[in-house]
Amino acid sequence: MRILATYSIKGGVGKTTSAVNLAREAAASGGRVLVWDLDPQGAATYFFRIRPKVKGGTQRLVSAKGDLVEHIRASDLPGVHVVPADFSLRNLDLHLDGSKRPIERLAALLAGVADRYDVALLDCPPSISLASESVFGAAGSLLVPVIPTTLSSRTLLQLSTFLATQEHPPALLPYFSMVDGRKRLHRETMAELRAEWPDLLPTAIPAASTIERMGPERAPVASYDPTSNAAAAFKQLWADIAARLWT
Ligand SMILES: Nc1ncnc2c1ncn2[C@@H]1O[C@H](COP(=O)(O)OP(=O)(O)OP(=O)(O)O)[C@@H](O)[C@H]1O
Ligand SMILES: [Mg+2]
Repeated sequence: MRILATYSIKGGVGKTTSAVNLAREAAASGGRVLVWDLDPQGAATYFFRIRPKVKGGTQRLVSAKGDLVEHIRASDLPGVHVVPADFSLRNLDLHLDGSKRPIERLAALLAGVADRYDVALLDCPPSISLASESVFGAAGSLLVPVIPTTLSSRTLLQLSTFLATQEHPPALLPYFSMVDGRKRLHRETMAELRAEWPDLLPTAIPAASTIERMGPERAPVASYDPTSNAAAAFKQLWADIAARLWT
C-alpha cells in the first residue's frame, strides 16, 4: 500500500479537492483506495457523502485499542473507501501527544489495513503540528498543491526546509493548483518555480468553475462533468503521480 497525503501548511489551496478527485482517478485505474479524512472540517467526508462520525471519537481511534478497520465506510464511488472525520479530530494533536509514539501512530494504524488497499490518501488540515509530523511518519509522499503566487511558493520552501530536518522525510510532490493562465503573475511564478523545483509534477490543475461545483454535486468532477478540462487534468495528475510511485 502506497501512503500519500494531500498536505500544505497553507489553507485553501486545493488539498481536499485534489484528494477527492485523485482518489476517484486511482480507483478508476483499478486501485483499491482508502481516503482518510484527517481534517475536523470534514470536507472530504462531505464530498464522499458520508456521515461525519469517528466512532468512539478521535481519542479512542488514536489509543492503543484503536483499530482503523472499524472506522472504514464504503463511498458511492466504486473502489473508494473512507475513514470519515468529525469535530473530535480537532483534538488529534492532544490525543497523539498522550500516546506512546505519536510520530509513529498514524503509520501503525495504517499498517493494520495495508493488505486491503493499494493506495491510502490522507487529507490533511492546513497546519504544521504534531499530527502533521505523524503524517510525515506515515506517508511515502506528500502531494502539495501550489497556487502560483508568492505566498504559496514561500510555504513550499518552508515545508521543504522543515522536511530536511527529518530523518526519513516523505518525498515532496508539488504541483500547481488553481492556475489562471490569463494572469501574468501566475505564468511568471510558474516559470520561476519550475526552474527552482525540478520535482514539480508536469500537470497543473486549472482554476475552473466546474471544480467549485463539487460543493453542490458532492462528487468528483469526473462524475458530473467528465469531458471537462478539469476532469482531464486530475486524470493526468494521477498518471504523473503513479509514474513517480510505481517506477
Ligand atoms: N482548481 C480549482 N478551481 C476553482 N476552485 C477551486 C479549485 N480547487 C479548489 N477550489 C475551491 O477552492 C476552495 C478551497 O479548496 P479546498 O477545500 O480543496 O482547499 P484545501 O486546501 O483543502 O482547504 P483547507 O486548507 O481549508 O483544507 C473550495 O471552495 C474549492 O471549491
Ligand atoms: Mg481541505
